[in-house]
Amino acid sequence: MTGYISNTQSFWSSIILVASLVAATASHIESRGNAPHCCEKLLSSASPAVAPFLGLLGVTIPIPPVDLGICCKPISVSGCDNNCTGGIAVTCAGIPVSVVGVDIGVDCTPIPPCPPPCNTLSTSTSQLFGSNAGDAFNDLNTFVGNATVTTDNVPSIHAITFRFGSVIDGLAVTYAPGPNQDLNTIQHGTSLTTVDSGLMNSTLTLGANETITAVSGQTGNHSPFGIRVLQLTFTISNSFTGASRVAGPFGSATGTAFTVAGNGSVIALGGSAVNTNLSLNQLQTARGGLYGLSFITTNGTDCPQ
Ligand SMILES: *[C@@H]1O[C@H](CO)[C@@H](O)[C@H](O)[C@H]1NC(C)=O
Ligand SMILES: *[C@@H]1O[C@H](CO)[C@@H](O)[C@H](O)[C@H]1NC(C)=O
Ligand SMILES: *[C@@H]1O[C@H](CO)[C@@H](O)[C@H](O)[C@H]1NC(C)=O
Ligand SMILES: *[C@@H]1O[C@H](CO)[C@@H](O)[C@H](O)[C@H]1NC(C)=O
Ligand SMILES: *[C@@H]1O[C@H](CO)[C@@H](O)[C@H](O)[C@H]1NC(C)=O
Ligand SMILES: *[C@@H]1O[C@H](CO)[C@@H](O)[C@H](O)[C@H]1NC(C)=O
Ligand SMILES: *[C@@H]1O[C@H](CO)[C@@H](O)[C@H](O)[C@H]1NC(C)=O
Repeated sequence: MTGYISNTQSFWSSIILVASLVAATASHIESRGNAPHCCEKLLSSASPAVAPFLGLLGVTIPIPPVDLGICCKPISVSGCDNNCTGGIAVTCAGIPVSVVGVDIGVDCTPIPPCPPPCNTLSTSTSQLFGSNAGDAFNDLNTFVGNATVTTDNVPSIHAITFRFGSVIDGLAVTYAPGPNQDLNTIQHGTSLTTVDSGLMNSTLTLGANETITAVSGQTGNHSPFGIRVLQLTFTISNSFTGASRVAGPFGSATGTAFTVAGNGSVIALGGSAVNTNLSLNQLQTARGGLYGLSFITTNGTDCPQ
């Protein structure tokens, strides 16, 4: 029917409209007509394509004119329309009248389209603290790649385990790569299984509704390892209770202090590291371990007001 209408549009659609108006004004307008429909077109009964035929048939043009929906099919929408692709979602005064197989709605009012879903998250990456002497990593890219970060794919940090003495040799971050996804642990630098009695092994675990909202630390040249991340301290906030707590410091050496206070939560780490099963003490001047860190934060959705 669709092709039929558009191919011989002017003549047949007008006839059909007229017929529908006649039928509708006769007896077809029923109170149960307000179910949403998706119509291919909306035309005014006063439009030049329609009005002359009304006159010919002796039908009075409705004052004020009414809108007619052409080729209408029932759809389900709630409040706004996101289910009428390529057409116009309407409610009409009567249930659509079938005229030679084409369903025509009479006195139709458009349903406003739903605003586009806004789930895009803006992220920002802090500067690199420490050195870039290792291999660059970016855990957000590992999970999301080039894709836009949204509430559907945004990773969250569940735990970070630190291997440290006076400096931070390595860490492993456990992420949920997106909401309701299985946990995934990524190592950077000295591994969790490294055996060195001088190396501590501490885990920061985030509870339900907890996120890292600030990080402070120390970086500097710690001979013979070169420039490293010396200390890390985390501020953790609970979005439900509003409570906050501090975890750390991990590492004890001092150098240059830094602070990252995002406008939101840390969702992933980036930085520079070489993965190894040796501690920095075991490596001495050999390349390995954690060199630098950056912090990727999100400040919530980036929606138009
Ligand atoms: C669209 O409408 C059809 C017909 O009522 C319904 O089967 C379908 O579930 C609706 N889809 C959405 C996304 O509401
Ligand atoms: C990222 O985008 C570039 C350019 O569009 C493309 O060549 C590359 O394959 C994409 N990488 C991933 C991981 O999707
Ligand atoms: C350090 O802690 C992690 C996580 O609890 C554990 O998997 C690992 O075996 C520990 N490593 C050592 C050397 O104790
Ligand atoms: C986490 O927050 C939700 C509301 O966002 C709340 O319903 C839930 O009880 C909270 N869980 C805990 C363990 O605090
Ligand atoms: C926090 O937001 C303010 C205002 O938009 C911006 O100037 C600042 O750089 C943001 N801070 C971080 C760490 O993203
Ligand atoms: C980030 O959030 C803060 C506080 O919620 C707000 O003041 C600031 O303008 C936001 N910045 C950006 C870049 O969205
Ligand atoms: C560390 O040891 C594990 C277990 O022996 C091994 O699978 C892994 O490849 C080692 N990692 C590195 C960086 O050498």
